[in-house]
Amino acid sequence: MTVRAVVRGVGHYLPKRVVPNSEFEASLDTSDEWIRTRTGIERRHFAADDETTSDLAVHAARAALADAGLTADDIDAIILATSTADLTFPSAATMVQSELGMTKGFAFDVQAVCAGFVYAMANANALIVSGQASRVLVIGAETFSRILDFTDRATCVLFGDGAGAVVLEAAEGKGTSADRGILATDLNSDGSHRDLLYVDGGVSTTGTAGVVRMQGPELFKHAVVKLAQTATTSLKKAGLGEQDLDWIVPHQANIRIIAGTAKKLGLSMDHVIVTLQEHGNTSAASIPLALSVGKSEGKFKPGQILLMEAIGGGLAWGSVVLRW
Ligand code: UT7
Repeated sequence: MTVRAVVRGVGHYLPKRVVPNSEFEASLDTSDEWIRTRTGIERRHFAADDETTSDLAVHAARAALADAGLTADDIDAIILATSTADLTFPSAATMVQSELGMTKGFAFDVQAVCAGFVYAMANANALIVSGQASRVLVIGAETFSRILDFTDRATCVLFGDGAGAVVLEAAEGKGTSADRGILATDLNSDGSHRDLLYVDGGVSTTGTAGVVRMQGPELFKHAVVKLAQTATTSLKKAGLGEQDLDWIVPHQANIRIIAGTAKKLGLSMDHVIVTLQEHGNTSAASIPLALSVGKSEGKFKPGQILLMEAIGGGLAWGSVVLRW
């Protein structure tokens, strides 16, 4: 018997405040038109001053548990992907654990920036497949609005806040690509490119949180190549090919990157979940947000093949192939 990690529930949460592109026009030399055409973003949500990353994560976690028909008592582990944790420590995951009233199991954060959710899913899959957990709550949650330089038009218009969550559960499989659940994962990083996207502060350097710095066009070039590469690798590991893909649930950084990757994989945009017009780039939260929106719209049918792919600071990138 092969153990597979199947998706049992999905949920998301967005903070109430919606910030349209036009709001940046007052303080920056930018325009709604530039932001829409160069990125695909129309608006994003920003957390309230008293709302933290773990607050967003708890809302998303509760929605995913409700969707799964489970309670926190049924969960063995929480993995929270974030680069904007409430505090330097403890992990935001342990805060979520306590808010949910979960007194057993274990919880930890994963920090792989925009690739964080893919990294968290791969780690959750490993825990389930190795028998160390039967049900894992995997969350992506961010408050990037807290680390933006609102005088830098090249970065501050791109990001938003939000959270998405997935309940993964152990299920019996046959060990073939016909199984439901996660069929393959592929993780990569290359720290020699760390200057392309980083935050210019931290505990052991400035002692401050810092703000996002990015070389956008250079990162763009890496994204289009590396996302297609990791997708092809995951599909191959799963014993599948590009022709087997039903849906891409991509990281939502730029519509031109999303469309370029879909084209390389031979999939039309009708089979790609796009939420960035509403959410902006929510870093580790973008894939579970897109998954939750896609599911709530009834897009995924049992047996279909989904690909999740992401790249971000590090560089760190990767993908997950699963059968719904
Ligand atoms: O989530 C992690 C992964 N992130 C990514 O993969 C992001 C990858 N990069 C991108 O998505 C794009 O590079 C950006 C959206 C960040 C930028 O788009 P671009 O088409 O590469 O623009 P650019 O940086 O080459 O800038 C083109 C022009 C420049 O002006 P000049 O030098 O041609 O006069 C910029 O100064 O657009 C200017 N510009 C803006 N203009 C109006 C940059 N930002 C803005 C802005 N409004 N907000």
